[in-house]
Amino acid sequence: MSGADSEKEAKSSAEGTAIEEKVALEVVEKKIPVYVMGRRYEVPEGLTIMKAMEYAGYKFIRGCGCRGGVCGACATVYRKPGDYHLYVGLACQTVVEPDMYLTQIPFYPANRASYNFEELKPAPEEIFKLYPEIFRCVACNACTKVCPMKIPVMDVISYLKQGNISKAAELAYDCIQCGLCTSRCMGELPQYHIIQLTKRIYGAKIASRSQHLREADEAIKSGSYEEPLRELMSIDEKELRKLYREREMEPWEAGEDWRPKETV
Ligand code: SF4
Ligand code: SF4
Ligand code: FES
Repeated sequence: MSGADSEKEAKSSAEGTAIEEKVALEVVEKKIPVYVMGRRYEVPEGLTIMKAMEYAGYKFIRGCGCRGGVCGACATVYRKPGDYHLYVGLACQTVVEPDMYLTQIPFYPANRASYNFEELKPAPEEIFKLYPEIFRCVACNACTKVCPMKIPVMDVISYLKQGNISKAAELAYDCIQCGLCTSRCMGELPQYHIIQLTKRIYGAKIASRSQHLREADEAIKSGSYEEPLRELMSIDEKELRKLYREREMEPWEAGEDWRPKETV
C-alpha cells in the first residue's frame, strides 16, 4: 500500500469513527416527554421512571430503596396516551414511554392488625380473626394482574380461605410488600399485610427447621465461634482486609450444588 493509500484509509476510518460517535451521541441524547405529577419534562429515552424523575430534578427521600426491584418502596401509577388502562409498576424497573403520565405511591394505606406474634397459633382461624376482610374477596383477579413479582395473589387469598397457610406462603414467597395489589382491590383487602402475617406464621411455626440451621444454632450456643471471633478481633485492619478478600465466595458458576465449607 502506498503512503497516499494509507493516508486515505486512515482519513476514512477517522470519519467512520466520527459518524459512529455522532450516532451514539444522538441515540444517547434522544429525549421523550413524560409527565410527572402533571408537569411535563423531556427525559432521555430508555431511563427507568426512577432515573427519569431524578433527571427531571426530583430527589428521593422516600419511595426509593434498593433500586433493584426487591424492596417494594417505589410503587408507581401511570397512564399512557390514548389508553384508558391504569398501569402500575416499580419505578426502578419500569422504563419511561413517550407521554406517560405518572405519579408515585411509595406507601399505599392499608390497615394492619395488631397482634402478639408469640401468642398466635399456626392456624388459619388466627388470620381470619385478624383479617376478616379476607372473605370480602370477589375473585376479580385484579391483584394478580398488577403484581410486579408475578405472584398469583388471588390464589394466595383463596388458599388462605381454604385454610392452607403453607401453600399460600409458598405462592407468596416473592412478595416485596409494594402494596400495588392493595391499590387495585375492589374487596378492599390489605393483601400485603395478610401475606406478611402468613409468611411469618409459616416460617416461624409451620415450616420444619433445616438441619444446617439447627447445627449452626447449636454451634453458636456451644461457643464454637468464640475463639475464632476473638482471633479476628485481635488482628490489624490490613490483615483483616486480606482475609476478607480471600474469604470463601459463593461461586456463581458452581450452580445449586455449591455449599459453604464447614470450617468450625
Ligand atoms: S403481592 Fe402485592 S404487595 Fe406483594 S409484590 Fe405483589 S403486588 Fe406487591
Ligand atoms: S383484587 Fe381483591 S377482590 Fe379481587 S381477587 Fe384480589 S383480593 Fe380478591
Ligand atoms: S427501589 Fe426497591 S423495588 Fe424499586
